[in-house]
Amino acid sequence: MGRHDLVVGDAISLIEKPILVGERVLLRPVEAADAPGLATLDPETLKLTGSHRTHSLEILERWYATRAGHDDRLDLAIVDQGSGEWVGEVVLLDLDEHNRSCWFRILLAGPRFFGRGFGTEATRLILAYAFETVGLHRIELEVYDFNPRARRVYEKVGFVHEGTKRQALHWDGEWIDAHLMALLAPDWATHQGHPTPPPAPTMSSTPGGQGS
Ligand SMILES: CC(C)(COP(=O)(O)OP(=O)(O)OC[C@H]1O[C@@H](n2cnc3c(N)ncnc32)[C@H](O)[C@@H]1OP(=O)(O)O)[C@@H](O)C(=O)NCCC(=O)NCCS
Repeated sequence: MGRHDLVVGDAISLIEKPILVGERVLLRPVEAADAPGLATLDPETLKLTGSHRTHSLEILERWYATRAGHDDRLDLAIVDQGSGEWVGEVVLLDLDEHNRSCWFRILLAGPRFFGRGFGTEATRLILAYAFETVGLHRIELEVYDFNPRARRVYEKVGFVHEGTKRQALHWDGEWIDAHLMALLAPDWATHQGHPTPPPAPTMSSTPGGQGS
């Protein structure tokens, strides 16, 4: 997997805004109508993303309405395929076009959406697009030490821990470390977001098998 038509020095862009369809979620370009969701994020999501500041609905509407014109970032809404509801966003940002790298971030609006597989699937969908269609070489992110669920998702899809920024966030009077993780195109090409093979079927689940 990966774009083999690119040679060193070719510049890339994130100006295309795709729709990416999974089993649980659909990713589509963000729009102004999604802003109420972003304006009412749960305090848990604000903490886990280290968001000290919030913005007015008007500012967030303008923010979402203007993302389409940017070629150095890709902002996609995460939509629950079951309900059609906006549940969060997943973003590639700060494209370094000559080194074919960018940053990654994701959020679901609150605990009622956590732990249902949305984050893992949304991450794999946008990474597949980033590596296989755009031709990115490196995607990096930071995850705070108090967020083991996010770290688990990132490890599950193949991000590798590269280092720790000590005491990078000040939250509720405490200093929190931030872990730097990254995923490279050659790694993606070997596992497509599944670095650990799924467990083999147990004896009792094989056809006719009772473990005999
Ligand atoms: C991080 C986030 C995107 C993950 O998405 P999600 O849909 O909740 O995650 P999933 O259901 O796909 O997967 C969660 C995984 O973490 C595991 N997990 C949950 N709580 C955990 C914990 N405390 N420690 C370790 N693993 C944990 C789950 O078991 C699951 O792994 P598994 O599939 O191997 O069982 C989402 O929880 C979120 O938006 N959180 C708030 C904002 C945020 O943290 N953004 C990321 C900032 S870096």
